[in-house]
Amino acid sequence: MKDSAARHSKDAIISTDLLRQLAYNEKMAELGKISAGVVHELNAPLSVIISASQMILREEGVPEAVLEMVDRINSEAQRLSHLTKGLLNFGSHDETIGDVDLNLTAEFILDFLNFEAARRGVLVLRQLDYTLPVIRTDANLLKQILLNIIMNALQAMENDGGKLLVETAAYGPDKVSVMIADNGPGITADAIDRIFERYFTTKKPGNGTGLGLFVTKNLVENMGGEIKVAGRSGGGTTFTVILPVK
Ligand SMILES: Nc1ncnc2c1ncn2[C@@H]1O[C@H](COP(=O)(O)OP(=O)(O)O)[C@@H](O)[C@H]1O
Ligand SMILES: [Mg+2]
Repeated sequence: MKDSAARHSKDAIISTDLLRQLAYNEKMAELGKISAGVVHELNAPLSVIISASQMILREEGVPEAVLEMVDRINSEAQRLSHLTKGLLNFGSHDETIGDVDLNLTAEFILDFLNFEAARRGVLVLRQLDYTLPVIRTDANLLKQILLNIIMNALQAMENDGGKLLVETAAYGPDKVSVMIADNGPGITADAIDRIFERYFTTKKPGNGTGLGLFVTKNLVENMGGEIKVAGRSGGGTTFTVILPVK
């Protein structure tokens, strides 16, 4: 009884910093749910734009210049529709276990982060091995793993001249790997032993929670895989995730 009271009072005391961080996380989670509703609302007008532009494209006697413009409207609307559907899917809390293509997953996340990379002037290189077997796993969790690692890499490269390489490959007969390498400042020797710890962050409050890699490592290990990190000479960081096929 005394013990549990002591534990209770210990749990109740949290620092102002932690409270601010938890409040911020909670706000972002709510905002995420509201945004999902907004994104869902975009579907109907996008479908109208797509079908209307396709009808115009089938019309006869439309001037070439107009057809070209309508063709652009059609393809941009299709791109947005693809993105919104992907976003809604990714945002869902449901289990999504099935046969997952590591390359398609990497491409989805890179397309999704296109703007985040572009606004930091980061050049993204994709080296995907299209002969890889599919893996049996939860697609949304795999997306989250890649999102965490790639967002960290982008955040590390705030200055122009950043390069990000995402490479998939076979790893022995029954594993696949994805390597994410950046040419940011790298991780100091002190920090590298701690980056997978819960709440370890070197970022300003509001920019980092220190939970990304903690969650990522646990997700990877739950999938029966492993995650490795290495510094590179002249700065830069490389993360490698290795996952079993079955
Ligand atoms: N690509 C990277 N380059 C440099 N530092 C990194 C990189 N990835 C992770 N880190 C370091 O690891 C820390 C922990 O990352 P993470 O668990 O995702 O938490 P957060 O991103 O919220 O800080 C970061 O604060 C940063 O110091
Ligand atoms: Mg992070």
